[in-house]
Amino acid sequence: MIIKWAGGKKWIPLKYNHILPNKYNTYFEPFLGSGAVFFGLQPKRSSLSDVNERLINLFLELKENPEELFNKTYKLISSHSDSQYYEIRDKFNTSDPSPANFLYLNRTCFNGVYRENTKGEFNVPAGRRKSSFFPFILQDFLDFSGSLQNSQLNCMNCFEALNSAQEGDFIFVDPPYLKKENNYESFRKYGKDVFTRKDLIELAELLEHLSSKCKILISNFDLLDVKELFGKNWNKQSVEQMSYISGKGKGRKPMNEILIYNY
Ligand SMILES: C[S@@+](CC[C@H](N)C(=O)[O-])C[C@H]1O[C@@H](n2cnc3c(N)ncnc32)[C@H](O)[C@@H]1O
Repeated sequence: MIIKWAGGKKWIPLKYNHILPNKYNTYFEPFLGSGAVFFGLQPKRSSLSDVNERLINLFLELKENPEELFNKTYKLISSHSDSQYYEIRDKFNTSDPSPANFLYLNRTCFNGVYRENTKGEFNVPAGRRKSSFFPFILQDFLDFSGSLQNSQLNCMNCFEALNSAQEGDFIFVDPPYLKKENNYESFRKYGKDVFTRKDLIELAELLEHLSSKCKILISNFDLLDVKELFGKNWNKQSVEQMSYISGKGKGRKPMNEILIYNY
């Protein structure tokens, strides 16, 4: 994947391709993140969105100007140092939130996580690894751009995005996790706003409603709470998968995930 993203799902197309449907009209991914399932699936037509504007701007740039994005990012990665990292992070938060700066910070930051403080500033420190921050050549960027040519990319809330789903579409839903700690009360943060429990309940209701006309696949931690909330009578497959449940290195624990689908 071009970006590192907490909760990335590249294992779904790799190990559970048989669960992904073959026939559908438009592919919807309203919690895009790194877009791992989209890039694995390579659908003919898609509607991709996320509430993170900087992330969507990166994908728009990748779609429209892959060579320029590659060259700028490559240059930054080649001259990477801790002091350059903090200089670019300051620029990114104040004057230049450009896709190349975003991608550079993403590839070199601690654990590849995206976090913002309450002011909406990206505040992740520099990572510890010294090399191999950028395992790409220009052709990879051109290929990613090719895959995005028939995709609508939008920065929007999941509820707005799902409003456009039509009969025969396929929706892959990967909302922020409930954390296992704190009695499941707190949720992963990807930005200054947190996806709340209320949002999750509303999402479950909307998906139940959409299930009469769309194929839907939901992915989340295999928790009783999740199974009670989503698709009570849908198919469920538990899977053991290494997943981040916190941004800290020691927080990388194997968690059972579950795939819930209505087809
Ligand atoms: C678990 S991640 C998705 C990971 C993705 N499937 C991948 O493979 O990288 C959840 C995503 O939901 C986004 N998000 C959080 N709240 C949202 C909301 N209300 N509407 C849309 N996207 C939201 C976050 O920015 C984050 O990218």
